[in-house]
Amino acid sequence: MIDVKHSVFHLHTAWWSCLLRVTKNGLLELVHFGAPVSEKDVDALAVKPGLGWGSSILLDEKDPASCADALPLAWSGSGRGDYRESPIELEDENGPLPAAFRYVKHKIHKGSVLTRFLPQAQNGEETLEFILEQPENHLRLKLYFSVFPTVLTRRAVLENSGESPVYIRKMMSWSIDLPGRYQMTTFDGGWIKEMQKHTVPVEESRVVNESVTGFSSHRHNPGFLLAEPQTTEEHGTVYGFNLIYSGNHYAGVQRSLQGLNRVMQGISPVNFRWEVQPGGFFETPEGVLAWSGNGFSGLSLRMHDFITEHIIPEFWQKRPRPVLYNSWEGCMFNFNERRLLGLAKKAKKLGCELFVLDDGWFGARKNDTAGLGDYNVNKKKLPHGLKGLAKKINHLGMEFGLWFEPEAVNPQSHLYSLHPNWILKDNLPPLTGRHELLLDLTKPEVRDYIVDAVSAILDDTNITYVKWDMNRHSTALGAKAHAYILGLYDVLRRIFVPRPQVLLETCSSGGNRFDLGMLTFSPQIWCSDDTDPIERLEIQNSLSYLYPQSTMGAHVSAAPHAQTLRNTPLTTRGNVSFFGVLGYELDLDHLLPVEEKEIAAQIEYYKAHRETFQFGAFRRLVAEEGIGWQVSDAGLHMAGLFHKLVPAAPGYERLRLRGLKPETEYHVESRPQNLRIGPFGGLLKHVAPVDINPNGAVLRTVDHRATMPDAKEDFTATGSALMAGWMLPPRFSGTGYDKNQRSQGDFGSTVYEIREKT
Ligand code: GLA
Repeated sequence: MIDVKHSVFHLHTAWWSCLLRVTKNGLLELVHFGAPVSEKDVDALAVKPGLGWGSSILLDEKDPASCADALPLAWSGSGRGDYRESPIELEDENGPLPAAFRYVKHKIHKGSVLTRFLPQAQNGEETLEFILEQPENHLRLKLYFSVFPTVLTRRAVLENSGESPVYIRKMMSWSIDLPGRYQMTTFDGGWIKEMQKHTVPVEESRVVNESVTGFSSHRHNPGFLLAEPQTTEEHGTVYGFNLIYSGNHYAGVQRSLQGLNRVMQGISPVNFRWEVQPGGFFETPEGVLAWSGNGFSGLSLRMHDFITEHIIPEFWQKRPRPVLYNSWEGCMFNFNERRLLGLAKKAKKLGCELFVLDDGWFGARKNDTAGLGDYNVNKKKLPHGLKGLAKKINHLGMEFGLWFEPEAVNPQSHLYSLHPNWILKDNLPPLTGRHELLLDLTKPEVRDYIVDAVSAILDDTNITYVKWDMNRHSTALGAKAHAYILGLYDVLRRIFVPRPQVLLETCSSGGNRFDLGMLTFSPQIWCSDDTDPIERLEIQNSLSYLYPQSTMGAHVSAAPHAQTLRNTPLTTRGNVSFFGVLGYELDLDHLLPVEEKEIAAQIEYYKAHRETFQFGAFRRLVAEEGIGWQVSDAGLHMAGLFHKLVPAAPGYERLRLRGLKPETEYHVESRPQNLRIGPFGGLLKHVAPVDINPNGAVLRTVDHRATMPDAKEDFTATGSALMAGWMLPPRFSGTGYDKNQRSQGDFGSTVYEIREKT
């Protein structure tokens, strides 16, 4: 709802309130953003300026409250005495211009007023548009505030009604000043190390979260949090911020002397210079702001709700995602039709529903040095073409999906030799990354080529899933990098909006472009090339602060793991992937009988609980040991408890669930899990009637075929007991195997079904 009385604007839902006031000098004062309040509270919540601020500048000499530098604002500028960071920097041909936009009028629109460059399924409730002007320079600034149940979105549009061009050096999507003390959490990393969580206090020096690689990047995810220092998963105030954008981004946070924290976010201003022609305009991407009074989990639920209901393409909202098999880690570039069909048959038998052919199916692509850009099928590998392969896979009862990397080209390719001018370049010699150059998506003819090449394949072959990859950083600077992203959105819109039923999973060397812009096209994103489950615990846990589990492609791969050499139990590889969109990405030709059995059991279990795993409300549990996750639907909760290294002489351990009905009875059942015999090695001599050689063929043969049951839990308890924390079975502690004991060793885990009794 948006209520307007005098110059007070109240945007509010059941979850949050935002109170704004236009000052006498035409500034937008941010009186409050956070817990639901009433517009009657304006005076109570507003800052009470003192008698002036020493050397500070006043907008009105007679009014000590007119010191822009000391006010909490919802937008600011430069050259008018607010010396904090400005969300906007402009210049004309003579140099820098002051930015001093004043309120002129406002409008209220039904629903959201969308950015022109994204096909958002947004559909917000109402939008407040503020129109501000700087008549001295013939400039108009429109600020849009869109109300969604759990979040507020904001963006800015600049219009030039003058007679000469204006240049934007910096224009943020939003800027706010929040009172209070906060810690800032960002999610940073790199290839195979995405989303590492870092927290720093917000002080008087500016903290910056920024990407200049041309993309949102795995270096610094655009999403971040500001939380009061004592905040826990369940208690405390947290603000969450994100940007619906996939390019260079910037966020700055800085505390002022008066204790106001200026927070802003938008396209990175580094090397940015965008020309706005007379009569032209520029619009920023949309920013997302959320508030929670009940800790980090509360904030995550609000962000998840917004993404699930308003960002994900409509067709895929809450639509169950298939369990897929992906050929990459099993085959890499080395396959032919026979091998793929053999794998597909096995995948089908194990329960997979979708077979995805990854890289290597086209042109001269026998490794990553050649062929990228030439989307003609390699007939040596696939003599019956994609169509023939897809038909055979469909015949097995599976859907067929295909990998593309359409934004890039290998210098060793037909496309590059035909169109060397199609690459993204400046006046220096171009540089490669993973032997690739980027195509210049700012050129219409390049976009047309990609749209035509990909569309032709999608229309000719029965493809229900596309993995859209992009494996290098850009070297484009500032405005060109932004123009590239606009080109990319145009390409994605033209290919996928007319084909809503094609499930798009985007990828960028793993999670190098995990952002809300990509999610407006692709319901799921490949989180990381690192599928080691212990690494994934961190990556998926961090992602869960800002993104729902249905957006996370999570695959079971081989152990020892390709990136870490870590040997983890297959059970844990499955259990971690359950809390995302489950897939398998390993060589099925080399599975042991015990592994085949375990994978089939995993898939069956996942399918039986799929909607809860994919769309249930996600909570990070406060586990006494390890990491705990819970997903909840009406009446059904699934929980996972994951350990890293086991301690000797482990103590008692409890698991505390959340969000249950205290009085209601629940049936708790752990997923039946089996232990491999091999890892017990020489210890088996304590239980076996005969002497067993721990390195011998007998143990190997038994290990490949037989397993021992792990502790099984099956009991009933009230919601309040489960939320207080139930006592788990003991862990192995040197006293030998017992079927009532958890003997999982390092990297063990358990998944629980908690069903409301009727
Ligand atoms: C990237 C992706 C992988 C795989 C390869 C194929 O690294 O992240 O999942 O698709 O490319 O070359």
